Amino acid sequence: MSQTDSAAETTMDRFQVPAFSDSREPRHIMVHADPVIATQDLSIYYGSAKTIHNISMTVPRKKITALIGPSGSGKSTLIRAFNRMNDVIPIAWCEGAVLFNGENLYAPEVDPVEVRRRIGMVFQKPNPFPKSVYENVAFGLRVNRYVGTLGERVEGALRRAALWDEVKDRLKDSALGLSGGQQQRLCIARALAVEPDVILMDEPASALDPIATGRIEELMHELKENYTIIIVTHNMQQAARVADYTAFMNLGQLIEYAATDKIFTNPDDERTEAYITGRFG
Ligand SMILES: Nc1ncnc2c1ncn2[C@@H]1O[C@H](COP(=O)(O)OP(=O)(O)OP(=O)(O)O)[C@@H](O)[C@H]1O
Ligand SMILES: [Mg+2]
Repeated sequence: MSQTDSAAETTMDRFQVPAFSDSREPRHIMVHADPVIATQDLSIYYGSAKTIHNISMTVPRKKITALIGPSGSGKSTLIRAFNRMNDVIPIAWCEGAVLFNGENLYAPEVDPVEVRRRIGMVFQKPNPFPKSVYENVAFGLRVNRYVGTLGERVEGALRRAALWDEVKDRLKDSALGLSGGQQQRLCIARALAVEPDVILMDEPASALDPIATGRIEELMHELKENYTIIIVTHNMQQAARVADYTAFMNLGQLIEYAATDKIFTNPDDERTEAYITGRFG
């Protein structure tokens, strides 16, 4: 995502800077030991427009972390930076670093395809490929030239996504014939099949009815035994139900980040309080 090679060098230089040394660091931001992902003074631009402002945050392992905030506050931009999905937007570029297990994802030698294998993504609108149920789940394995038994991996991923029983007799049918909730679990199975460490979910349930949403939330609870999940949601009840930690963003800044209970019952920042009580956003 860096604009030029020299920008990539700048990123590397900043990578050497000790974390959280920035004097502009907002207060009310928790820091986890041994985070799976950590941003260091991360800023993201679309062309000349600075959209994410110097965010330093840590994401704990095998927990669910929610990003909340008003529309346009930069939640999608930030979550996409965690697996280099902004790379596909030509005008997007960044400064600072995103560390995954301590390694800068934006270092020049890093392969974005491998990044996306380790850090999978599920989008707001289920986006199965116009292929069979089976081929959707096998897709990433084929791309990564997986050499084991595909059928076992496909079944395992569908089971972990709580979809196997509903599709085991229609594996050869088109994925487009599944219900919206089933399609979203299929997309989760597709992400799980390549054995990622982290799953990013950008409003994964906003297009689903309450029952399908409940299934996705249950599934997230099961998945966090083995995976780190970061979810963007507009639904504050959903954040309160599923997330261990919640980050509140506004105007591209990380305003407050704490245990979910704290954010929803006793936030430190008046902007967080205003947002969660529905006074703005
Ligand atoms: N591809 C893009 N090109 C230019 N500007 C963009 C692009 N994507 C997002 N932006 C701008 O960046 C800002 C943050 O957008 P982003 O989509 O990250 O917000 P969000 O918090 O996810 O909002 P929402 O809740 O509506 O999904 C907005 O001002 C948006 O217009
Ligand atoms: Mg968004």
